[in-house]
Amino acid sequence: MTTVPSPAADDVVALRQADMKAMAAAAKTISGMFKDPASYKAAEFRWAADTIRDRSGVVLSEHFASEAASPQSKAMPNILEERERFDRIANDLRDYAVALDAAAQNNPGPMPASMRMKPGEAMGGGPLGTHVRGEQELSAMAAEHAFHLMLQTCTTCHARFRAQ
Ligand code: HEC
Repeated sequence: MTTVPSPAADDVVALRQADMKAMAAAAKTISGMFKDPASYKAAEFRWAADTIRDRSGVVLSEHFASEAASPQSKAMPNILEERERFDRIANDLRDYAVALDAAAQNNPGPMPASMRMKPGEAMGGGPLGTHVRGEQELSAMAAEHAFHLMLQTCTTCHARFRAQ
């Protein structure tokens, strides 16, 4: 079978890859602030969280709505077969980003200890089982904890749906 990639397919691949890169940069910004809390700036943190929020959930899912026959793409064909699972992970990512946005809104000044993970705080989820908790539990969780769970959604999705 020879498929000539249509320009439209190439566009969506370029777009989703650009979105992924933007999310990676945003995650790096947030990570840097948890590593060095003195560098925390609520507005920047929030902007980074929103960058991820606006590129996850349905927006992310729709960028993988059909098999893009593009040699540039590393997306796996099982995305279409396991649609529900893929969409669930995309939505989990959004839930965590929303929680991080809220944390920044609630903490406009210096980063309070309550945003950090306490030593020994249990990490929920596990590498292959990220469960989004109820909204309530998510908002009660330290922002740093939500951030780590958020990064697990990236890893979980890539492990299953992105060619290595
Ligand atoms: C629901 C699934 C899913 C989630 C969640 C997800 N990704 Fe991806 N990501 C993919 C897929 C699929 C590709 C391959 C896209 C392609 O090449 O067409 C990809 C590609 C990438 C790339 C490579 C982009 C390029 O230029 O080729 C980066 C970087 C990336 N993701 C970062 C992230 C980060 C950071 C997160 C979390 C904040 C994340 N991703 C969350 C599915 C996901």
